[in-house]
Amino acid sequence: MCAQLLSTKPYKGTRDFYPADMKLRNWFFGRIRSALELASFEEYNGPMLESLEIYIAKSGEEIANEQTYNFTDRGGRRLAVRPEMTPTVARLVAGKINELNFPLKWFSIPNLYRYENPQRGRLREHWQVNVDIFGCDSYEADLEVISTAISLLKVFDADSSMFKVHINNRRFFNDVIAAIAGTDAEGSRKVSKVIDRKNKVPREVYEKDLIALGLDADKIAKIDALYTMSVAEAAALCPESRGAQELIDLFAALEALGLAEYCVFDFGIIRGLDYYTGTVFEVLDTAPENNRAMFGGGRYDNLVGLFVKNATVSGVGFGFGDVTLENFLITHNLIPDIYAEGVKVLVTKFDDVPYSEYTKIVSTLREAGVQSSIYIGSKKFGKQIEYAVKGNYSHVVIMGGSELEAKQIKVKDLRTREEVTLDSDKLVEYFSAQ
Ligand code: HAM
Repeated sequence: MCAQLLSTKPYKGTRDFYPADMKLRNWFFGRIRSALELASFEEYNGPMLESLEIYIAKSGEEIANEQTYNFTDRGGRRLAVRPEMTPTVARLVAGKINELNFPLKWFSIPNLYRYENPQRGRLREHWQVNVDIFGCDSYEADLEVISTAISLLKVFDADSSMFKVHINNRRFFNDVIAAIAGTDAEGSRKVSKVIDRKNKVPREVYEKDLIALGLDADKIAKIDALYTMSVAEAAALCPESRGAQELIDLFAALEALGLAEYCVFDFGIIRGLDYYTGTVFEVLDTAPENNRAMFGGGRYDNLVGLFVKNATVSGVGFGFGDVTLENFLITHNLIPDIYAEGVKVLVTKFDDVPYSEYTKIVSTLREAGVQSSIYIGSKKFGKQIEYAVKGNYSHVVIMGGSELEAKQIKVKDLRTREEVTLDSDKLVEYFSAQ
């Protein structure tokens, strides 16, 4: 009896990256990496597995309890496959807190796992560019992080009609809710959870949840009004609030930098993660079909303190995923022809020539920086040419017994179909001129 065949499909919500897919991913992450390095961000990394505790402590209920892949190892340790990078980077910073040169500008591009319901823009495995600044409490770090976020989309020639940075402030949020609804810190936190879900549930459910927290129709209307206010109007509702002042300073600085056209104040941005304390923001694609946030981030003052007693190193940063970026680039037509190959040479083979003659050619070409390969296997010449065409080779090198004897080599340009015969020692010269 035949054993049942195994599936070729990857696990639900994960993707295989065939070479063409890798080409795309390497292209966009390559551009992002260069832009970040140009802005003097340094790359770091950490392990895929972390102690589950670090997510329970601060990431928030949804991520820690519902979305982590977690297990107990053979030594009885409770571990999670990282669902996000921020607790890891806070741990790294805490681990060398006395040696590091603050303010730090760090980035990483880890793959992350979340047990999500797979849908457009959300999968179970994604790659996430993480950009964070540690050790600067002033709005300048928030500004640097937001302007970096904008610059990473401008790298792809995106303009302000294609995306917007939606900005709010947690401290302001708590203060204005307290002013409107008379809630204490815990009450404001509960209201924030309801407001965070506002667009995901019907209006009646949203109102019912707020009423259950003690808000009446008048207070709900006052909260509604915040969604259409400018920063100045919103800040005027609680002028004593430090968060309100932070918002005003940040928007003034964004304006001065010429970035106002990319940014909007949005009272609906709360962020699901519990560790944010100040500025919070999301970058949204303006195309309605791409309705999941592309970037999410903000300021967190207490994360490093999870690992080091009395640490006062604050952080601010964002995460930016490959799934939403790819949707964005495709929707707005921002992917150039990255599949076009430059010079790529296949050295074809004949049986009457020793194999080492061909490997010598390939070594010479590679030493000269020409991308090349020998044909591996023993197919007829016609099949080797077919392989070259299908594999996007630009040229084939042909050397049979008679050419070898005459110390000559033929080169066929598969793009123009032209064929030339050269002295063997002129091969590198030929490709250098291409
Ligand atoms: P986050 O909002 O959970 O924040 O994720 C940030 C971004 O990662 C999202 O806007 C989206 O592009 C991408 N992303 C998140 N989950 C998924 C998913 N299931 N599938 C595809 N893409 C996804 C954080 O993770 C914070 N740790 C970011 C941060 C860094 N805050 C400060 N520094």
